[in-house]
Amino acid sequence: MSIDAPALHERLREAHGALSHQRITGLFDTDSDRHERYQCHSNGLVVDFSKHLLNDHVWQLLVELASVHALPEAFAALVAGHSVNTSERRPALHTLLRGTAAEQHPDHTAAIRDTLSGMATLVTGIHTGAETGWTDQAFTDVVNLGIGGSDLGPRFICDALSTSEAPLRAHFVANIDPEDLDRTVGTLDPSRTLFVMCSKSFTTEETLSNADRAKAWLQAAGLPPHRLGQHFIAVTTQVNRAQQWGIPAERCFPIWDWVGGRYSLWSAMGLIIPLALGWSAFEGLLRGARTLDHHTLTTEPSKNAPMMMALLEFWQTRYLNANTHAVLPYAQTLQHLPDFLQQLTMESNGKRVSTTGGPLTSDSAPVLWGSAGTTGQHSYYQLLHQGTRSFSADIILPLISGRGDLTARRGLAAHALAQSRALMVGRSPEAARQIGQSRGFNEQECHQFEIPGNHSHSLIVMDAVSPECLGGLIAAYEHKTYFLAVLLGINAFDQWGVELGKEIATEIQPLLETGATASAIDPATRQAALAWHEANMT
Ligand code: F6P
Repeated sequence: MSIDAPALHERLREAHGALSHQRITGLFDTDSDRHERYQCHSNGLVVDFSKHLLNDHVWQLLVELASVHALPEAFAALVAGHSVNTSERRPALHTLLRGTAAEQHPDHTAAIRDTLSGMATLVTGIHTGAETGWTDQAFTDVVNLGIGGSDLGPRFICDALSTSEAPLRAHFVANIDPEDLDRTVGTLDPSRTLFVMCSKSFTTEETLSNADRAKAWLQAAGLPPHRLGQHFIAVTTQVNRAQQWGIPAERCFPIWDWVGGRYSLWSAMGLIIPLALGWSAFEGLLRGARTLDHHTLTTEPSKNAPMMMALLEFWQTRYLNANTHAVLPYAQTLQHLPDFLQQLTMESNGKRVSTTGGPLTSDSAPVLWGSAGTTGQHSYYQLLHQGTRSFSADIILPLISGRGDLTARRGLAAHALAQSRALMVGRSPEAARQIGQSRGFNEQECHQFEIPGNHSHSLIVMDAVSPECLGGLIAAYEHKTYFLAVLLGINAFDQWGVELGKEIATEIQPLLETGATASAIDPATRQAALAWHEANMT
């Protein structure tokens, strides 16, 4: 951090002080063009920041913050393959997977091209029926076995872009709970079902357990052992282990330790995308992300969508005290976007020490949550409008989202724009009094109709739910996440916090199995473990 940073943060604090009693509607009253200035666009995405509590002074300070924290240089370093994942001492080259700065990485690029070409050949073979199951019939269904980054991105994309003409029906199994696999395969024909086993480490208990159970399901249905390989594909850094598990070499696709799991949908980890949607959809996704990478590399901070998204989130969380961030996509096809973004942003930036190990002096990533509009309106929006918590939000409106009934789609768009406006304008005490009095309430009781409004949020309008736009949208969130990490001084690419629970689960397993008491376990945990043992093992 440059020596100017503390001074800049002080100026931002003062700027907040000056703005804190203002209303966003008031800012529009005196500056009706603000939506033209406070917006960034790239390949079919327009991110409108004008409904944030900010003015030109704040915008300018945030742009200065980008330069003080060297955000453009940080992004160039990521793309160039510097060891931005400092604790694991390796690069995070997800941008290369879509061809960005390929000329800087000839060896990795050759490996990526080989892999893509192998994937394309296999996908074609499966779609044409040249590659079949053990009864020599073409596959009808493909099941992705993976969890976290080996599940959420492909799950989101396959659901968002699925059509009735899809070459294969896509399914996803992540949970070690046997119900997940059992319910999924319950309606499938084993002889026509293909599994893609996705695990970067090939050690993840959930995925190995599900793969073993999927194998047993196929065998119980008559799969001859020597034809197992026809029904499985693996994606992993541990290709040898996948082969030992029983998957033939030509069906094991590599990924590399320079790709983070939650940034990996652009690699063979996304194989179910072309299997389910066709190769051109996968190519469109990569193209959209590459265009957004180029935008991020070449656009000045004030017009740079992911950079301003990160800076505005920093403003919201550091100065406006927002501690949660709601993602509210107004398209059923984007229903899984919040799930994907939860891992991307909270596993990346849910940290408490800086890259050098010092404690953070302010909060790191906000809790991210959300769901498809308009269903959330009939659930938690009450808290957004009248609760006491402070939050930031992204309202996402695709202009074209499917070709379904126009009247219904118009209703959906009306709700998206209405909620964005309602979050800003609220309902004044005068208007609340009128409503209350017309219903016979006294002065005091009329307060229940007040809605404070003035909630800063972004409105993201995207051309369509298309592969290109989705590629750009995801890349924008990826880069926003990284920029926020740089602003916070943390490493976005490790996840040490998730290991502890896995270690303790290994310690608890014997207790569940035998009921033997392990002295290192606290009495409350032991009591629940013994209850489970009693219920299941005796
Ligand atoms: O437990 C967290 C995690 O390591 C994620 O970071 C990762 O995306 C997920 O597990 C799955 O890991 P793998 O692909 O190695 O099975």
